[in-house]
Amino acid sequence: MKTAIKCIQISTINFLIKNLGKITDYREANELLDQLSGIDTFFRNQNEFLTLLGLLKPSFMVCEGSGRREYGDFQTPSILTDSICSYLNNKGIVPDIVIEPTFGKGSFLVSALEYFPKFKKIYGVEICESYYWQTKFTILELFLKNPDLHKPKIFLYLDDVFKFDFRLIERSIEKHNVLVLGNPPWVTNSELGSLNSKNLPKKSNIKSLNGLDAITGKGNFDIGEYIILMMLNSFSKYNGHMAMLAKNSVIKNLIYDLPRTNYQVDDMIALEIDTKKFFDASVKASLFECSFKHNTFSLILPENDKPVMLDDTCYFLGFDSLSEAILVWAILNSKPVKQLLAAIVFLDAKRPYTKDILMRISIDKIAKDMTYDKITDQIESLNENMLVNVTEDKWEVFLEKMNKGNSETKQLSLFEIMANPPSPFLTSTKK
Ligand SMILES: C[S@@+](CC[C@H](N)C(=O)[O-])C[C@H]1O[C@@H](n2cnc3c(N)ncnc32)[C@H](O)[C@@H]1O
Repeated sequence: MKTAIKCIQISTINFLIKNLGKITDYREANELLDQLSGIDTFFRNQNEFLTLLGLLKPSFMVCEGSGRREYGDFQTPSILTDSICSYLNNKGIVPDIVIEPTFGKGSFLVSALEYFPKFKKIYGVEICESYYWQTKFTILELFLKNPDLHKPKIFLYLDDVFKFDFRLIERSIEKHNVLVLGNPPWVTNSELGSLNSKNLPKKSNIKSLNGLDAITGKGNFDIGEYIILMMLNSFSKYNGHMAMLAKNSVIKNLIYDLPRTNYQVDDMIALEIDTKKFFDASVKASLFECSFKHNTFSLILPENDKPVMLDDTCYFLGFDSLSEAILVWAILNSKPVKQLLAAIVFLDAKRPYTKDILMRISIDKIAKDMTYDKITDQIESLNENMLVNVTEDKWEVFLEKMNKGNSETKQLSLFEIMANPPSPFLTSTKK
């Protein structure tokens, strides 16, 4: 706290002196600061509160950390975090929950607060105490300057990311959209070895390499890579997005290892950044992005009024109307279908989704069990932009068609290709 207080603006200091100076109990101070900034438990105990009151008296000077090599400390400048968050926002990423596993001075968190106006919660972890306090003060400053800015609940933890129990966060995710954001440390385990540092995961052979590979250098990895893997391990089972800065070598390793790790991620992109300009570093690094998606069935729309061709790794259904395609898409990605597939599909098989398995899905029976509200909720969770194409009338017509199809012939036949393109269609990946 002592170091952090030296970096905050005089207007914030004056605010703190004026408003906290009269308070004697840390819980009362926490209430005030929560209302102002959304930060939960600003002071963890009375001692911390009294320390701040004591520190509000001395004069200030600019702080800079030293000996931070073992923490892979390359703080991201706000100009870069702003452009990353603005880019994600323009791309339509609308998170409910933002997670920053090593938040440092908090520039990603501050940019997220400015660029994602509606999200509900922030979770952040950081090992360095002065950064932990600096981030709290910076967020407080942001809200003092912009009192009307949307305030999510903010949970900041002073902890070692390798020891932090991310299951605490998982419990609050449920149906929410997660965005894992940040810039994990840039340092390799062998550099840490030479520094005699303990800033490592407990189990350092994370890739379960055999002895020879470990000796010949494959066991040398960036701890940032381990943190990204931890994030994928905890959060790739939820809907959401990851956008993290990492060395290109880290990204290459992640992609190389992905088939083995079985994390359900999609839409991977690496956008190279100018490391010289932003970090005064010569190593190549990029923004690594991917989505967490759990839809076995995708909606493929015509491109420029032309049908899209896919290869034979997909099964597909064709439709005459977009609304019908959307309704079937929502049904096929609904909970009952997911539960059925989870019970009968062996994901480690060479071809888990076979025609025989897909033929066991009765679209009409699931449709009968769904109300209009349920189907629109389901569509909204997949892509809210698609809602405009569906009305209650269209849903009723669809149900009638399902019933009629059932009594006259059979259930909607899977794998029938409609003759007149261009039409939207649904795919299910065979592999
Ligand atoms: C590359 S810097 C990036 C900081 C911040 N994410 C940003 O984008 O500006 C990495 C950060 O990781 C923190 N860090 C290093 N090891 C950590 C650990 N074991 N647990 C939590 N944070 C850690 C460092 O203190 C540093 O703030």
